[in-house]
Formats: sequence, structure tokens, C-alpha cells
Amino acid sequence: MSTFSHSPVLVDAVCEALSDPLDVDRPRASSGILLDLTCGGAGHTRALLRVLQPKTVVAFDRDARALTAARERLKDAPCEVIFVHAPFSEMHRELDAIGISHVDAILADLGVSSHQIDTGERGFSFRSNGPLDMRMDPSRGQPLAARLAELSTEQLTRILRDFGEEPDARRIASAIVAQRPTDTSELASVVTEAMSARQRRHLGARIHPATKTFQALRIMVNSEFDELDTMLRDAPERLQLGGRLAIISFHSLEDRRVKRAFRSLCENPALPHGVPIPDHERPKAPFRIAKTFRKGRMATDEERASNPRSRSAKLRVLERVEA
Ligand SMILES: C[S@@+](CC[C@H](N)C(=O)[O-])C[C@H]1O[C@@H](n2cnc3c(N)ncnc32)[C@H](O)[C@@H]1O
Repeated sequence: MSTFSHSPVLVDAVCEALSDPLDVDRPRASSGILLDLTCGGAGHTRALLRVLQPKTVVAFDRDARALTAARERLKDAPCEVIFVHAPFSEMHRELDAIGISHVDAILADLGVSSHQIDTGERGFSFRSNGPLDMRMDPSRGQPLAARLAELSTEQLTRILRDFGEEPDARRIASAIVAQRPTDTSELASVVTEAMSARQRRHLGARIHPATKTFQALRIMVNSEFDELDTMLRDAPERLQLGGRLAIISFHSLEDRRVKRAFRSLCENPALPHGVPIPDHERPKAPFRIAKTFRKGRMATDEERASNPRSRSAKLRVLERVEA
């Protein structure tokens, strides 16, 4: 197997989130199914196999290379493993096709893997040269080069602002549209030269000036926010009573979406005004946020020191408490 390198983050917290008995006072239904929506190199899946001991694992990834690595790493799994090469926005269709209605545990570890970033030819990185691609699934959609060729300065400015919170969005967008870089090194140089001296000073030596631009372009190419919003709508519907959904996000734009969606799923349904209903008959929200995960969970100092990817990771967990 080729070297597929990726160190999973928050592994202990994910295992705790998906395996601890619920602080719920009713029996828990169990399908024995674990759904990993972002299997990657199967680091989380393997840890979860040990603690959950599922009878079936369904492992999604939109990246065929990740699935090849995962297949190899899960070949000795003591249970059935079903691999699905599809984006998680298609989970309803894929789960229906394999005859699965509800699952005990769902994990989504968002964003890209270290393997994707570190493989120059995938075009994700400003650190190694590669084509302007950035697709997690190169068999679908358009590569970055084709997307950039179609965008006006105004459209690109909006993308850098909305998906990257880039303060110098307009300057950078104008430079990209004027200079039409042809590979990731050129793109990184165009961004660095376009950035204001003030912003460069603000970032300091530790953060590459192209970090936010590359993040924004990757989110655009892979429709990451549409994917996330669809998953936030569909995944909770697939949870058994007592089942949990764990999501790891890597920046505030993702985390905000997860937090808002979870909050709204946990709101009790509104009642018509003036209808007297005793407390025990009031309809309850079918979901809640486990007490120990109210604020989300971040990596410990020790993990941050040993795995830099964990520094921005935040884990949020939702559980189904009503059928
Ligand atoms: C951070 S990595 C996951 C690493 C994995 N948890 C592990 O332990 O190795 C994210 C993975 O999710 C995949 N991915 C990202 N967005 C996806 C989506 N919308 N649908 C399916 N897979 C996606 C990426 O291709 C990548 O392999």
C-alpha cells in the first residue's frame, strides 16, 4: 500500500462521544451500525471498531484514494465493512441502496486529509507545486483552473471573503484575475505579492499569506458548505433512538454552521398560543446535546503539541432522545 499518512485528531474524545452510555433514562435501540462519513485513512474507524464493536461499518469518502487506503487498513476488521465512494450529501440515496435505515453512531471529520494536502499533484497545497485542481474527487466536477477561468474579480472577491474571511480579498482577487496563475506555486506567489504589507505583518512568519485564499478556493471547488448543510439536515434523521452524531470541524465558518444546526434541532417544537397542554404532554425536541459536550471539545495541550492539525479542531456531538 502506498504511504497514506494522516494522524486522526481527537480520537479519545470521538470514542467517548460515540460509545459512552447516554445520560438518557430510557432503553437504547441498537442497529449495530457505525457510519463514518469521512473515512479517510480509517484512523477513527479503527479506534471506533475497538470501542463500539459494531456488526457493520459503512465507510464513505469522496476520495477514491482514501478508500483504497481504508480498504487495506480495514481488511482484518472483525465485522462487515461497506465502502461507499460518494460525497456525504448523497447519504440518503446510498444508505437506501444498501438497505440501511438507521444507525447507532455517525462521525464526520470534515475537511481534507494530510495525504491530500501533502500530495502536490492534487493541487491543494501552497507548499509544494502542483496543478490547479483541489478536487477531493477528481472524477467529478471542475478543477480549480477551470473555475478560476470563469470568475470575475467581484465573484472571486466574494468567495475569498465568504469562504476564507480574507481581509485583502479584493486586492488578491484582482491580482489572480489579472495574472491568471497556472499552478499552485504561481498562485501562492500572486497572493503573497498582492497582499498588503499590513496584513502580511499581521500574519507574521508562522502563517503563509495564501492560507485563507487556498482554504476559500478549496471550499468553493468542493462545494464544502453545501455538502455540510445537506449532511446537517440528513444525518440526524438517520440516528436510532440513543444514537449520536459527532462532527469535527476545523475553522470557525464550519463550526458556526454545526453549532447553529445542532441548536435548532434541540429546540422544543413551538405550541399554538393559548392551548393548555400539561408539561408531560408537551412535544419535546427529538435531539439534545450531551452534557459533557455542551461547549464542544478541543484538543488537549499534549495533542496540540504532537499533532498541529488538531489545533483548530472542534468536536460537537448531538444525540437522539426521542424517536
Ligand atoms: C480529515 S479527513 C478524515 C480522516 C479520517 N477520519 C481518518 O481517521 O483518517 C477528511 C476526509 O473526508 C473526505 N471528505 C471531505 N468532504 C467529504 C464529503 N463531502 N463527502 C465524503 N467525503 C468527504 C476527504 O476526502 C478526506 O478523506
